[in-house]
Amino acid sequence: MARIAYVNGLYMPRGEAMVHVEDRGYQFSDGVYEVCEVKDGRIVDQRRHMARLQRSLDELRIAFPMSPAALGVVLHETVRRNRVHDGIVYLQVTRGVARRDHAFPLPGTRPSVVVTARNLDTAANEKAAADGIAVITVPDNRWERVDIKSISLLPNVLAKQAARDQGAKEAWFVDRDGKVTEGSSSNAWIVTMDGTVVTRAADKGILRGITRSVLLEVIKAHGLALEERAFTVEEAYRAREAFLTSASQIVLPVVRIDARPVGNGAPGSIATALRKDFHRHAEWT
Ligand code: PDD
Repeated sequence: MARIAYVNGLYMPRGEAMVHVEDRGYQFSDGVYEVCEVKDGRIVDQRRHMARLQRSLDELRIAFPMSPAALGVVLHETVRRNRVHDGIVYLQVTRGVARRDHAFPLPGTRPSVVVTARNLDTAANEKAAADGIAVITVPDNRWERVDIKSISLLPNVLAKQAARDQGAKEAWFVDRDGKVTEGSSSNAWIVTMDGTVVTRAADKGILRGITRSVLLEVIKAHGLALEERAFTVEEAYRAREAFLTSASQIVLPVVRIDARPVGNGAPGSIATALRKDFHRHAEWT
């Protein structure tokens, strides 16, 4: 089936969907993005993703490109035209097209908007969740504003490739104090031997994942002990369970960290239960 991309007001066949060579996203990574899960043809937690988009844009002083209601229509229409049942919808907003100059272009330059959507291989995702995945750890060499969901992802790209090269699915960034910040495209969690769920506080050093925020509510609803604090790589090695969260993977058990088995080397019961219950707590539109 032909895939369709939304580009600046038009729905185009994907092969013909183009952005200008002087788009600031292309030239400077001067833009932000969001990824929402699509389940049963509906967008999961759209409201929270749009609120985070607003914040990212505000931090970079890029105007919200259209009304939130209109953007919601575009997201749903792109999902519909691509017949996405279970997958993701991707939204990118850049500072627009202007002659190359590092400083901001003239006021009134229109932000560029691209939306794409595609199905994911749900069977492969379920298998990854049933088997658990391996992660490696790498030094966190990113800038300080990783709380902004910017399209500047070079360290994340290199970290993910390092994971692939070592047969792992994700790389966990580690700060100068030996503490895990987050994954290259996910948030990082452990469950301690006494059953406490631990994830880094979303003040500095990580992206405030939407899946993370919703999962905190699921964890409270399950009556589990929870600590929002940084944990060291050593603590992760000794954890009973580990897992990651992201819009595309929801909750994915981690069974190896730097080639060492986590717990008994199989997906943990808490991670598995949280994954199962997640969508009951999420918003659907
Ligand atoms: N990644 N941290 C980073 C660095 C991320 O890139 C992501 C998401 C997350 C989790 O955020 P959320 O739960 O809102 O998806 C944390 C998306 C899925 C991506 O880049 O494809």
